[in-house]
Amino acid sequence: MKKSHRIVGLVGVAIATVLATWLSVQIDWFPLLISPTDGKIDAIYEALLIGSVPFFVIIMAAIAFMLVEFRAKGEDDDRDGEPLHGNTMVEIIWTVIPTIVVIALGIYGWVVLVDVEAKQKNELTIDVTGQQFLWNFEYAKDEARPKDKFKTNEMVVPQGRPLQLLITSEDVIHSFYVPNARLKRDATAGVTKTLRFTPTVTGAFPIVCAELCGIGHTTMRQTLRVVKPAVFEEWRSNGGAFKAKPGGSDKQDTSAQDTSALGEQVFNAQGCAGCHTLAAANATGKVGPPLNTIRALGAAKIRQSIVAPNSVVAKGYSKGIMPLTFKDLPDDEIDALVAYLVKVGKQ
Ligand code: CUA
Repeated sequence: MKKSHRIVGLVGVAIATVLATWLSVQIDWFPLLISPTDGKIDAIYEALLIGSVPFFVIIMAAIAFMLVEFRAKGEDDDRDGEPLHGNTMVEIIWTVIPTIVVIALGIYGWVVLVDVEAKQKNELTIDVTGQQFLWNFEYAKDEARPKDKFKTNEMVVPQGRPLQLLITSEDVIHSFYVPNARLKRDATAGVTKTLRFTPTVTGAFPIVCAELCGIGHTTMRQTLRVVKPAVFEEWRSNGGAFKAKPGGSDKQDTSAQDTSALGEQVFNAQGCAGCHTLAAANATGKVGPPLNTIRALGAAKIRQSIVAPNSVVAKGYSKGIMPLTFKDLPDDEIDALVAYLVKVGKQ
């Protein structure tokens, strides 16, 4: 290769390196950030891009150069390259520079980790338990008495208050992940791990499982709902419900219409759609049997399949896939869910 070509090539690689690095930090890689302190995590990602994109471009350019420059020049070109015995200067350079980059990023990451994991004042504690294929959230009804808890499948939190999540698993390893807060932590049976963040933006955001945990892994998605503190207090004092249930707890005035409306709420709140297909609810889960024709089973059998799923197993499905926890739902919610499935599951 001519010397002038090499200079043009080197200048081209330098320009490509700067351009690619600039472009990589212009792209908005992440969803809306709801926890401002975790902007520090976004800054780490930018540092990682700035620290790694140049290497990528330079290495790809070197490979391209070698593919062209040292290719076989014709059918019968079977010459070997010149034997080399190493170059101490080059080896020192390509060892020292990456070592410095990796150590610097490591220290930076550690400093930010210590910072985002620091205990905050006035934390709201929520127990998070993963199971195949559902997240359960437990709250103290009254924070003065932390033992008295209620359970939900939607994580509702007050805007602006620091959260302390105590994360564990009932079975296999799951990973609790809130992309909008940039935080992820493994859920492992027998171990409780802590995750902290302070959501400051109201709205509904996905909670996903980020560890391949079985056949329903991809459907293990629930909602983080950040609400105004007053709304949260009302929800909590209501045992994890936004408004009084139709008909009230004493069940007067529960017409069939109202009950199946509540049933639809229960269907959605309990994450049934994650595993089951039901046209009426726009549910397309494939883990468990479809429910479009479940009416044919009759109300009693439908109820049994919810509270004791291993005793009513649809053909082609295995025992043990459906969580056993739905028997803990309040009776009126189970009744409403059954009424709903009877109503919408056409024959
Ligand atoms: Cu739980 Cu993937």
